[in-house]
Amino acid sequence: MPYLPAETRPRKGSERKLMAGFFGWFAPSTLPTPNHAHGPRMPVQSAPYLEGRHLLKGFGQGDTRTVAVNEVALQLYRNELTLLMGPSGSGKSTLLAMISGLLRPDQGQVLAMNQDLWNRSKVEMERFRLQHCSYIFQGCNLFPALTARQQLELVLRWGEGVSGREARRRATEMLEQLGLAKKAHLRPAQLSGGEKQRVAIARALVKKPDLMFCDEPTSALDWENGQQVIQLLHQAAHERSAMVLVVTHDARLLEYADRILHMEDGRMLTEEPRKSVAVAEEPEPQILQMPAPQGGPRRVALSGLMEGMTVGF
Ligand SMILES: Nc1ncnc2c1ncn2[C@@H]1O[C@H](COP(=O)(O)OP(=O)(O)OP(=O)(O)O)[C@@H](O)[C@H]1O
Ligand SMILES: [Mg+2]
Repeated sequence: MPYLPAETRPRKGSERKLMAGFFGWFAPSTLPTPNHAHGPRMPVQSAPYLEGRHLLKGFGQGDTRTVAVNEVALQLYRNELTLLMGPSGSGKSTLLAMISGLLRPDQGQVLAMNQDLWNRSKVEMERFRLQHCSYIFQGCNLFPALTARQQLELVLRWGEGVSGREARRRATEMLEQLGLAKKAHLRPAQLSGGEKQRVAIARALVKKPDLMFCDEPTSALDWENGQQVIQLLHQAAHERSAMVLVVTHDARLLEYADRILHMEDGRMLTEEPRKSVAVAEEPEPQILQMPAPQGGPRRVALSGLMEGMTVGF
């Protein structure tokens, strides 16, 4: 069948059934398809920004061994918001952890911005994560001793080396965007679950990352806040040219997705065809030319701690 944009391509019966299975409360005929309503249409870009090849990860031994991710390949692109969906236990979080540099695969390769991610030293890896990646996980993993604003300032000061004044300005602006201006001085214990999740999202977005990895980012949010976060993720992809990967069961995200990947039993099942997306100027990846963050290895070590804290598997 020739390529058709997702919204015009008739869905096959098997696909509709599959999606209806994931969203049991939807009748198949009412399932939304990814659309272009939230982004301009331009030529499809070529090279993947992040690519996984033959990825495999197992846990345990003998009878108790589980192959969480089994020979999975995937390609992810700048300017795209991609959803990764599938039943509980299908391997989504494990795959996300491997392609984002948090969990070493047993087999396979991850190419991130043209670099072999798992072939780097620990320090290079941590620098890569600090400079290019943001993570949003359900557990939030905020620093208990820091206020909402300080959580964001820390990322900016240590990650980008911006001045205290600039960090405060950007942190305040981002918290305002997420409706948290009045909570900026509160620590995690004083925030509700949804507020904590929004602070974690603000912390991920304030960094203006190239690669965003989100595991159920809207699960603790009500309709209005969830909608706002979805729009911000969409903006990160389409206005800031980020690659955004979101593991989710939230049907509201379908409307904003450029692509939808489905996993089951550790394998990638189906993939919506890529729709045309806007391609901003595509500068060459700068990873190897990047200077070390100010403060050298100590700062990198902190980044490892910070990102390590975000792993909620
Ligand atoms: N550290 C671990 N040790 C042992 N088994 C693990 C570990 N992490 C994941 N698994 C197993 O790997 C499989 C995939 O887990 P994963 O967390 O990737 O699923 P998921 O698709 O993210 O599920 P959910 O939607 O419930 O979050 C599961 O069977 C899980 O029990
Ligand atoms: Mg998971």
